[in-house]
Amino acid sequence: MRMFDRRRFLQTLAAASVSPALPACAQNALSSRNPFDLGVASGYPHPGGMVLWTRLVGGLDPVAYPVRWEVASDEAMRQVVASGSAAADPHWAHSVHVEPKGLEPDRWYWYRFMVGDAVSRVGRTRTAPRLEAEVAKLRFCFASCQHYEQGYYGAHRNIAEDAPDLVAFLGDYVYESSWGRDHVRKHAGGETYTLVDYRARYALYKSDPDLQAAHAACPWIVTWDDHEVDNDYADDRPEDGMPREQFLLRRAAAYQAYYEHMPLPERMRPKGPDMRIHTQLGWGQLARFFVLDDRQYRSWQACPRPNRKGGSNTVGVEKCEQLFEPKRSMLGRAQEKWLESSLSESRSRWNVIAQQTTMAQFDQKPGPGRRAWTDGWDGYPAARQRLLSYLMEKRIANPVVLGGDVHSFNVADLKLDFDDPKSAVVASEFVGTSITSQAWPQERLNTFLSDNPHMKLLDSRYRGYVRVEITPGRMRADLRAMESVTTRDAACHTLATFVVEDGKAGPQRA
Ligand SMILES: [Fe+2]
Repeated sequence: MRMFDRRRFLQTLAAASVSPALPACAQNALSSRNPFDLGVASGYPHPGGMVLWTRLVGGLDPVAYPVRWEVASDEAMRQVVASGSAAADPHWAHSVHVEPKGLEPDRWYWYRFMVGDAVSRVGRTRTAPRLEAEVAKLRFCFASCQHYEQGYYGAHRNIAEDAPDLVAFLGDYVYESSWGRDHVRKHAGGETYTLVDYRARYALYKSDPDLQAAHAACPWIVTWDDHEVDNDYADDRPEDGMPREQFLLRRAAAYQAYYEHMPLPERMRPKGPDMRIHTQLGWGQLARFFVLDDRQYRSWQACPRPNRKGGSNTVGVEKCEQLFEPKRSMLGRAQEKWLESSLSESRSRWNVIAQQTTMAQFDQKPGPGRRAWTDGWDGYPAARQRLLSYLMEKRIANPVVLGGDVHSFNVADLKLDFDDPKSAVVASEFVGTSITSQAWPQERLNTFLSDNPHMKLLDSRYRGYVRVEITPGRMRADLRAMESVTTRDAACHTLATFVVEDGKAGPQRA
């Protein structure tokens, strides 16, 4: 069998308007398994297009495969409005990231991929409205934290059934290690360190049919949290004391696998251990999303446990001076500056900050004194103060912060001074629970409630997601709770609904 000539293949691709034929060896390899077993996905809609994603799997040769793609204006794929061919490169795990351009704004499209005789499922996606468009409504869901072993992804099936315009996934898409109780299924292999490890972990998670359905239902925007790399890492510092150079190799492998498995634009392709994923996305005049990365550039964790170099801790605030150092940053100075200038340029009615951790202060010491967990924004109080002060001073319109990480529904007022009941409410915060990952018992959270009066709801009993509808006059958030994650077909109900009225910061129970 002749070896596949990649250079000739690329020349053919560039020259041909028809798709190049597959080499014989590639066709043989493809016959054993559906190469589209990991599904399809789309992301980052703008008025003229979006990103389309798939990854070929199953006994592939280490050569590039030409993958054809089609975008149609109908679900039956009869009216094809854009098409082409892209190389599934073995250096990028045979993933494909396509960015069709010139589509019409503010409408739904359907797409699929083909390689050899194999055809993928049809995914549904859409473009965003034009920047100047007056938009009546935006519906989106946000979610995070989907430990594969700890449950089934029924929440994703419900997200797909909701058919939102957009999904925002806020981190812990995969977990690097096994933990928790009552596993319904198992990771293959132990903790992930190498590119091979991370690729296999993503392939396992992405084999789930409910997760695939949610990806096929609408475009996603994504950010990561710690578990896509390593628990509690901060910039170049892991929790386990691994030397910096070695950890950066691990981070590079993790970031590459993340890129390979997400519908991310070409501009986000990683370079070694660096990958810029913070970005903004507009939805007409109605809303603007600011997608943040609070892992890659953050200052090291303050006051780690005495026997460790990194990782989070829960500290009495009077015992950790470092916590309050003004130079400590959650986003890094460059991203902070970018966020400030982007917010000040926004002309949108609603400004949605989509990020991975909880922002509201959360005192974990009942009664006098305060204990703070250093991995969330409580570990970076000066940076939180800078952001909230900026929102207030610049009168940013309707700021709403979305978060994840803690595996409970948290609904909160964001204030300049959480210890002062009279301090103004600057923004609204909604933290989604987890898709599956386990949480602290509700009884434990209840002991902290009276020390955190700015929290309107704190509920760790359910796994699920948050469904949001934004109109010019208000934002509505339904907290969607799964009855169980131990069966695939468990029911979902709305635990509570909150609204934020235009011009009035702070969630109100509907
Ligand atoms: Fe998590």
